[in-house]
Amino acid sequence: MNFELKTLGLAAAAADKCDALVVLVPQGGVAGTDALSRWIADALKAGDLEPQPGKLLIHYRCAAAAAQRLVLAGVGDGSARAVRKAVEAAVGALKDEPVRRLCLCWVAKPEAVTGAAVRAALVAVADASYRYTTTKPKAEGRKLARVTIGVPKLDAALKKAFDRGVAAVAGIELAKEWGNRPGNHATPAMLADAAKALARLPRIRCEVLGPREVERLGMGALLAVAQGSSEPLRFIVLKYQGGPRAAAPVVLVGKGITFDSGGISIKPAPEMDEMKFDMCGAASVLGVFRALGELQPALNVVGLIPSSENLPDGRAVKPGDVVTSLSGQTIEILNTDAEGRLILCDALAYAERFKPRAVIDIATLTGACIIALGHLRSAMYATDEALAQALEASGEAALDPCWRMPLDDDYAEGLKTQFADVANVAGRPGGSITAAKFLQRFAGAYPWAHLDIAGTAWKSGAAKGATGRPVGLLLDYLLDQEQKVAQAKATPSKVATKKVAHRS
Ligand code: BES
Ligand code: MN
Ligand code: ZN
Repeated sequence: MNFELKTLGLAAAAADKCDALVVLVPQGGVAGTDALSRWIADALKAGDLEPQPGKLLIHYRCAAAAAQRLVLAGVGDGSARAVRKAVEAAVGALKDEPVRRLCLCWVAKPEAVTGAAVRAALVAVADASYRYTTTKPKAEGRKLARVTIGVPKLDAALKKAFDRGVAAVAGIELAKEWGNRPGNHATPAMLADAAKALARLPRIRCEVLGPREVERLGMGALLAVAQGSSEPLRFIVLKYQGGPRAAAPVVLVGKGITFDSGGISIKPAPEMDEMKFDMCGAASVLGVFRALGELQPALNVVGLIPSSENLPDGRAVKPGDVVTSLSGQTIEILNTDAEGRLILCDALAYAERFKPRAVIDIATLTGACIIALGHLRSAMYATDEALAQALEASGEAALDPCWRMPLDDDYAEGLKTQFADVANVAGRPGGSITAAKFLQRFAGAYPWAHLDIAGTAWKSGAAKGATGRPVGLLLDYLLDQEQKVAQAKATPSKVATKKVAHRS
């Protein structure tokens, strides 16, 4: 799908011979005197169009517009959230129509159309027109090929938001693609190949470790999860270098369980198919790298993806088995279904070698997270205030929100065991929190955050599918970091100078 951004008043948009013209109509109505404005004003006055987000009025070959289809979409207060809702409704209504060229514009004063609104519009167009086809060879793909976003007045800030939005869409769509693929079309080796393909983009490198290298390193926890499967594990290391070589990177760690049966602690059959989505953390890391490749920001990012299947087998790890993790800590595996934290703990220990400025892991980690927060907000845990605040803010800005959860040490009580340094499960209460407490033991000296995306990474039911979250949140966070690094350079304080000297 191709996007373009241009200055387009309502009269000019009306003259565009596209397949569909979507006009976002706010509360407060229309002031213009051109034919389309008058037509919209009439519809509002007659009560045939309500300006609330989600409300639509669709017209075929309307005399006031050159487009085949005219869709008036209420956009309420015009906020980014309202734009998303309006555009999802409008583009969703056109999903099965033969619309290849779409033009989207606003009834609004220039200052009312913000960068956030433009980005929300792009992401919503992509979301509402997305179609998965990889394992449906006869299915028709997305029909939409060209999208023009027309704003009342184009400026540098809107252009920047547009570029971010286009990159976010590319990243979100890659994350959806890999999330949606069934387990037999997304094995650890295939995920590694997807990561290697990203290394064709400028400034991205990729290195993939297999079972032998992982064993030599001493990642006993990752090995334990993988030993029940005949698909060989992969440990993927992606590097994006946009900043100076010595600049400390942000490390993203994505859970890459390509299918989670639970292992010997096997899951019940209903909905077990959804455990193909258990690599959505990994997919979000791939998506972020795709977007970085597009935007080329001046910062360094490392992506780590431990990837394996979790299956029962004669060689599978058993409840009660004790393994030694890369950190040297021994772990009693009381429940083989708590496998995500096992593969992540070795990756968190591995992350230390990059002397990171921050490490963020992203994982479909616990069913308990869905009970706590439902499907709206991802759970966010952090050992560092600034990191927590930055992630919170990015979640809001990208309409990909998270909610901070507690890390009191007392939550770790249940992880104590007689037989190892730590057990891999505590009781049922606070299951997302105790999982985070387990991970925290393996996070090194760096600022660390953990995103439990069990409730947000995919949708169940009729609209079953990966959401591409939290690519939007992560990308926004990283690009803000780029700005902070640039600002710190422009005004070097004593502390900053000392830090740089220490790291080089
Ligand atoms: N991948 C699951 C978590 C999950 C389950 C995400 C359902 C979304 C929907 C994870 O590996 C898991 O099985 N967690 C267990 C942990 C328990 C054994 C402590 C869970 O949540 O039941
Ligand atoms: Mn599991
Ligand atoms: Zn899992």
